[in-house]
Amino acid sequence: MSFPDAPDEVGFATRQVHGGELADGAFGARITPIYLSAGFRFDDFDQARDRFAGDEAGYVYTRAGNPTNAALERKLAQLERGRDAVVVASGQAALTIAILSVARAGDHVLSAQSIYSGTRSLFTQGFDRLGIEVEFVDEAADLDDWRRRIRPNTRAVYAESIANPTNEVADLAGIASVAQAAGVPFIVDNTLATPYLVRPAKHGADLVVHSASKFLSGHGAALGGAIVDAGTFDWSARPDAYPHLNEPDTGLQGRSYLEAHGSAAFTAYVRGVTSALLGPVLSPFNAFLIQQGTETLSLRVQRQSSTAAAIAAWLEQQPEVLRVDYAGLASSPSYELARRYLPRGQGAVLSFVLAGGEASAARFHDAVELFSRMSHIGDTRSLILHPATTTHAHLDVETRARGRISAGLLRLSIGLEEPEDLVRDLERAFGALRAAAVASAAVGDVDEAADAAASVLAPAASVLEGSTR
Ligand SMILES: Cc1ncc(COP(=O)(O)O)c(C=O)c1O
Repeated sequence: MSFPDAPDEVGFATRQVHGGELADGAFGARITPIYLSAGFRFDDFDQARDRFAGDEAGYVYTRAGNPTNAALERKLAQLERGRDAVVVASGQAALTIAILSVARAGDHVLSAQSIYSGTRSLFTQGFDRLGIEVEFVDEAADLDDWRRRIRPNTRAVYAESIANPTNEVADLAGIASVAQAAGVPFIVDNTLATPYLVRPAKHGADLVVHSASKFLSGHGAALGGAIVDAGTFDWSARPDAYPHLNEPDTGLQGRSYLEAHGSAAFTAYVRGVTSALLGPVLSPFNAFLIQQGTETLSLRVQRQSSTAAAIAAWLEQQPEVLRVDYAGLASSPSYELARRYLPRGQGAVLSFVLAGGEASAARFHDAVELFSRMSHIGDTRSLILHPATTTHAHLDVETRARGRISAGLLRLSIGLEEPEDLVRDLERAFGALRAAAVASAAVGDVDEAADAAASVLAPAASVLEGSTR
């Protein structure tokens, strides 16, 4: 059985293994081969012309499409149950292409405040220079605030299904209803959750973007990104807002994208214009690696989520820990949203705040041996990072505080190791903190002794902090 399209009843595990594959007619290769070719030969003059005009199906040049990439695109569309997908070189490229395919200079995009720091910088530094204003909603759960901030020139609403690194869960259906009422697409970054934990399109998202470098690839080898079109948004309802899809296009002999491609207009525009012209093409080699990773997605995410949940609960018991950001914990402000949207698991990325601030975080960070000190998530290996001095270091203190990135916060991405070995490694790091506290108390170091005292007071501080949220 070949699965260029999967019937509705086919389950997730079957889709992740077989989805999108094509039977190889030439040699019978069982998995989609790596078509590592810059371009594709035309049989004759007419075929070259017709392929360029889009009047004949087939490949032209890998920047505009490639059979290995297309197999991954079909698989990702099937996993998100979208209409179609376009793969690009990285998650950043996916976000860039998605936004530039809906907005232009003078337009406005509304985003949740708590998002991946690279996306935030893309919004504030990249798009700002292009004349696209991105405004942030501080409390993503406050739907009235989203509603109030919609403007006539708003072209998209954006959130992460699970925010990196704070673990805020987006009220997908709630935010989708605001976007729908405003006549703009709702774009969701589903990198941390993956389609195994939640399918944003089911809850009203119109476009789903991924950093495929994380859980989809899963093995930390390849960067990639994807934009999945749910096929739900009516681009013709507001022609003035989305003129690039509604107005005659010279590349289409005077037809509009909607006239030429109907419900496939958005992905045709992404493939033919935004992605093809800006050029962040995914190497077919990386597409092959990502497709291999995706075949085991549910198994990895299940196991990584359950280990993360156990570690989050364990961390919450440690006296040095002020707060654990993990949506699977009853103490999380996102707990109810996680129960609604993430019943299969709440993901493998979590953060926790140490009472001793940066000094404790640094000591803890350097004491682990099994966790890798790395700026990456979604790997088979467990990883640790101090966001305030790395990914979020360029932000001013106030912005960091709004994003809930404090000096004592450490992010973990839980891998596939034995949970007991991971806990032992974290215990080692807590041991280093405790040893330092005892040593500094012995030599009368006032600052260190204060840190140690703060650790002892941690549970009380945690209760206080909880009461203000
Ligand atoms: C939620 C999220 N979106 C997008 C990206 C960017 O992805 P990439 O590193 O593949 O460009 C990341 C990277 O960490 C991420 O965590």
